[in-house]
Amino acid sequence: MTEQQAFARIQELTHQLNEHNYQYYVLDRPSISDQAFDALLQELELLEKAWPQYLSPQSPSQRVGGQALSKFENAAHRFPMMSLGNTYSRDELSAFDERVQKGLGKPARYVGELKFDGVAISLTYENGQLVRAITRGDGQKGDVVTENIKTIRSIPLQLRGSGYPTFFEMRGEVFIQRKDFEKLNEQRLAAGEEPYANPRNFASGSLKLLNPAEVSRRKLDCFVYYLNTDEKLFHSHHQSMEAAKSWGFRVCAHATEPTDLNGLMSFIDHWELARTQLGYDIDGIVIKVDDFNDREELGYTAKSPRWAISYKYKPMSAITLLESVSYQVGRTGAVTPVANLKPVLLAGTVVKRASLYNEAEIERLDLHLGDQVFVEKGGEIIPKVMGVDVAKRPIGAEKVAFISHCPDCGSALEKIEAIHYCLNDAICPPQQLGRLEHFVARKAMDLNSIGKETIVQLFEAGLVRQVSDFYDLQYDDLLGLERMGDKSVRNLLEGLEASKQIPYERVLFGLGIRLVGETVAKTLAKHFPAVEMLAAASQEELVAINEIGEKIARNVVAWFRQEENLAVIEALKFHGLQLSRNTEADVVVSDKLSGQSFVISGVFERHERDELKAIIEQNGGKVLSGVSGKTNFLLAGDGMGPSKLQKAQDLGVKILTENEFEEMLA
Ligand code: IVH
Repeated sequence: MTEQQAFARIQELTHQLNEHNYQYYVLDRPSISDQAFDALLQELELLEKAWPQYLSPQSPSQRVGGQALSKFENAAHRFPMMSLGNTYSRDELSAFDERVQKGLGKPARYVGELKFDGVAISLTYENGQLVRAITRGDGQKGDVVTENIKTIRSIPLQLRGSGYPTFFEMRGEVFIQRKDFEKLNEQRLAAGEEPYANPRNFASGSLKLLNPAEVSRRKLDCFVYYLNTDEKLFHSHHQSMEAAKSWGFRVCAHATEPTDLNGLMSFIDHWELARTQLGYDIDGIVIKVDDFNDREELGYTAKSPRWAISYKYKPMSAITLLESVSYQVGRTGAVTPVANLKPVLLAGTVVKRASLYNEAEIERLDLHLGDQVFVEKGGEIIPKVMGVDVAKRPIGAEKVAFISHCPDCGSALEKIEAIHYCLNDAICPPQQLGRLEHFVARKAMDLNSIGKETIVQLFEAGLVRQVSDFYDLQYDDLLGLERMGDKSVRNLLEGLEASKQIPYERVLFGLGIRLVGETVAKTLAKHFPAVEMLAAASQEELVAINEIGEKIARNVVAWFRQEENLAVIEALKFHGLQLSRNTEADVVVSDKLSGQSFVISGVFERHERDELKAIIEQNGGKVLSGVSGKTNFLLAGDGMGPSKLQKAQDLGVKILTENEFEEMLA
């Protein structure tokens, strides 16, 4: 590749990657698979390494975060960051409208926008490129956090389109989507770490991190809402936001068209309740005079513009009786306290329960049974107990003390960091049930014929205790169970049979080893191609792998030390599940079977099932887990399921014996 070609390719890749980022993060409309995206990115990174003179600070490769900083530089804001006047009352809003009318000598048009509950940021663009990002600080000066901000995929590093001012500042709010926040907190809880308090603190804490690579993993997002420039290119706010959208920014999708006070009031009414349906937190509505000439005429007070105000929602709250506290044991043994409340209406739903998180939270609230408690629902779905009305506490009320023993199996709890655990995972029922549910989940063994109720039935009937017990189930065991007719039993058994083809890494994930999620399971499967090798791995060997930390390593080693778990592995192996990586499949021998798909069922004389699978794949064929219209051949051994055979015959799938299969390849 010549230098000129490299330069052209770098530009092309940059353009493509920016475009895909925009489609995915700004429009929520993915235009390419993750793998294909990663492949383009990797190509760009390689070229930039080979031709460093063409590595631009705005390259999409810079979004993963580079060198950690030792401290942030401080810089002055070009346009001071003022705050907004705010109000909780509609009367004050009418008063604001009157002041504006008086100031202008005519009625004004306003835009209503959501007031995002995150952390404010100032973004400077020069010639279409993001050059600097500064936090609010004291409004005059803030921290330069450009490297952190570059990791936020919905903030353009290079603007799209045209017509932007040569130099401008864009204001926005950095935040995290609620689902991403909840997922992060689940992971922290599972890892025995303290959960983050709320999405806003999380966002502002994240911008203060000195390691941009860590920020890059935090899934931050950003809405912009204010364009500041000396160039007079636009007449109004809504026009400038339309333009910002065309340059690739994420702007408020729910802003009103320019309207009057009445329009604003209905906007406020609507979002008061509808805000719980948004994927992120808002704490109110911002009202802005739309016309830029009007804005100039109104001007500023010492602290804030006279042309804007925020209307803040009161947190949705209620007061009710704390009847009792109960404790839930999760799959990993973590025990979560839950407040049982006298049912109360809050933001349109009846609330009966609220999470209390952990022992420290109960202490903080100084909770007593029979207390009148304040429950609040912000943007979030699960209500919180915010405090106690101590004056109403009944005399002699009993202080809530965290339980010392597992409510389900009675074993003593252990406190690891802030969380209490029941460590008796082998026989503690909710943990056993949780593991079974996890095993059948879509991302693990994908046994959609086994629902939650079926698991409870099988568990209570003593038929399934360990995940390996699923594979001992017989037709007659199942037929008697509730809601289990011939058809569902066959379905269930066929599903189990098909799951024997699920790859090793997913079986590993399905085992439910604490902290071994999908990604970690993949990593482990890659480094230890067979489960025996993983079982024998030491803490040191595990930690030596890049993505595996101390805690994960400790959990993996501990898991494979338990006799019961080793017995489960043996049983799964006996039943023919994939507990090693099919490395032979990577070798190509011929293309004799190219375009042909096979289902393998039963036991064979000369080959293990895995071998057959590898042979088919090495010769260009595909192995499917269940018979369907897409199957060309059913490779039939001894003792294969009668229903599979029937289905193959019905669909006209050709049935092959082991001999015939060998002849085919000869
Ligand atoms: S406009 C000069 N619009 O609320 C006025 N602010 O107390 C610029 N905020 O500091 C602000 N959503 O951090 C504006 N749609 C929105 C907003 C918004 C959230 C924040 C922002 C600002 C604070 C005002």
